[in-house]
Formats: sequence, C-alpha cells, structure tokens
Amino acid sequence: MLHALYTASAPGKIILMGEHAVVYGRPAMAVPVHQVQATATLTVQDGASDLWIAATDLGQRTALSSAPPVNPLAQAVRLTLTFLQRAAPGGELSVHSTIPLAGGMGSGAAVSTAIGRALAAWAGQTIPAADLSALVYEVERLHHGTPSGIDNTVIAYGQPVWFVKGQPPQPFAIPHTFWLVIASTGIASPTRETVGDVRQSWLADPLRFEGLFDDIAGLVNAGRAAMLAGDWPRLGALFFQNQRLLAEMGVSAPILDRLVDAARLAGAFGAKLSGGGRGGNVIALVEPAAAETVADALRQAGAAAIFITPVSAGAARAALL
Ligand code: PMV
Repeated sequence: MLHALYTASAPGKIILMGEHAVVYGRPAMAVPVHQVQATATLTVQDGASDLWIAATDLGQRTALSSAPPVNPLAQAVRLTLTFLQRAAPGGELSVHSTIPLAGGMGSGAAVSTAIGRALAAWAGQTIPAADLSALVYEVERLHHGTPSGIDNTVIAYGQPVWFVKGQPPQPFAIPHTFWLVIASTGIASPTRETVGDVRQSWLADPLRFEGLFDDIAGLVNAGRAAMLAGDWPRLGALFFQNQRLLAEMGVSAPILDRLVDAARLAGAFGAKLSGGGRGGNVIALVEPAAAETVADALRQAGAAAIFITPVSAGAARAALL
C-alpha cells in the first residue's frame, strides 16, 4: 500500500572564475545553477522490507541491502540515515537529473544532496547545510578521491561560494541577480588531463605560471567586487580577461574560443570557459533581454546544449507531497 511520497531537489553548479589557478592556492568562485536539477523521490510503502534505489536516467535499480559501498547513491542513503539516526524505510527512492554528466556541473553532488533532502523530509527533519555539505563530500570522495569541496558546498548551500584550497569554503550572498547563458560543448571536460598539463607547464616555467595564477587571482578578487556591486559590464570584462589567461595556460580549445567569440559578437558582457577546459562549458554573462540572442549565436557556433539561468542566492527546496 502506498504510504507517502517525499520529493526534494538540488541545483547544478558552475565555476565562475578562478579554475586551475585554484589548484595553486588562488581563489575561485562558483555559483548554483537552478535551471538544471537533480530530483530524488522517496515512495514509502508499508510492509516493504527493502529500499530500492532507482537511477531512472541510467536504467539502474539496486536494493539498498545488497548495494556495494562504492555505489554512490546507496552511500548517500546510508550516510544520511546515519545522520538522521533512522533505519531505512521500505519502498523506492528514485533519482533523476537534468544536469549533464561529466560536464563540470556537479551532477554527482546534486544527486547526493537531493537524496539527503528527500530522506530528511521523510524523517521530518532538516539537515543543516553545513552537515549536508559534509555528507555529500564523503560521497564525492568515492568518485574523485580528493575533491576540492566546491561542488558539495555550492550545491548543499544553494549559494555562491568563495573557495581557497585548504580553507573552509565560504558561501556568500549576492545582492543582485544576474543572468548566465551556459553553452555545453557536449564534450566531457578531461579535467584530470588539463590539470596535469598545467602542472607540466608550471614545472617547466614556474615564474611565468605563477605570474598567470597571480593575474587570475587579481581578476577573481575584482570579479567578486563587481558581483557585489552589480557591475555587469565590469564582471563581463573580467570574464574575457580570465578566458585569455586560461587560453595562455593551454586549457582552451578551438570550440571554446569559437563559443567565447560568438558570445562577444552577440553582445554578451563577457564569456569564458568554465571548469577544466578543452571540453565542458562556456559561460556568458548577459543582460536578460539579450539572453536568447546570445543563446542562438552559441547554438550556431556549435553548442550542443544551452541553459539560460539566473544566478541568485536561491533557497533549498524540500517538500512533502
Ligand atoms: O570542471 P570542474 O567543475 O570539475 O572544475 C575543475 C576545476 C579545476 O580548477 C580545473 C580543477 C580543480 O580541482 O579545482
């Protein structure tokens, strides 16, 4: 017999500025993307003895009792239940996501966050963002070894985050909403490879690369000030400068350069690659009225998918249906 349905969601994320330099101790900023979502729906059934976890997009269905510890969905469930001090309910937990996989948009962290929130709704509890973020980080470690902590923080807080390696990530509120057009290349970003290449280049010419990282740090600091002031032309100009430095570091690609140029010609305030580079996404900062024009230009320049999203300090959502 159907007992109750609990559903919760979590946004994707995107790095705004500072990728790669962040590996060398410089700051980076990342923001939630509410246009794409992971959703977890828990159907509790009286008398059911196991909890089935269904990844509907992947066509996978696993019983919690027999899922191995390396199964990230089962691990998110187990860690959440431990936090809530509850035994697993019987029934089905189904997970669905519109966040592109392996695109640097935090799909794994968003799925874990949605699972945590759906189970908390069932237990009649709210998991504080800091605890949810720590829990999601533990799940992320299964895939990534030593994740930076950006994804879980941005997604669990649903807020922009200022991030410096080795320091606790700092969520911060943004007073003015702004709009991004995100253009996916459809090519998974080979982050491990680009991070390795940057390391080789840095070892070969540390002075030049330390200089590039310092320049990026200056742009990221200026970017935060522009964001807080709502100065979009300034923030856009900083995006273009950050892109130039990423290209100098060797992590751009012809498709990324083409998308950035298309956004510029279509009237974006600024554009840059986001994340590891060579694939993944380009972000363009736009006036809302220009979003469709820029999106069309990006499609014509070869974008495989486009998301138009406002960036604001959105609240976490968890609802009992
Ligand atoms: O594409 P993402 O979101 O996984 O970002 C990679 C960011 C890098 O700075 C290139 C690597 C890192 O670990 O910070």
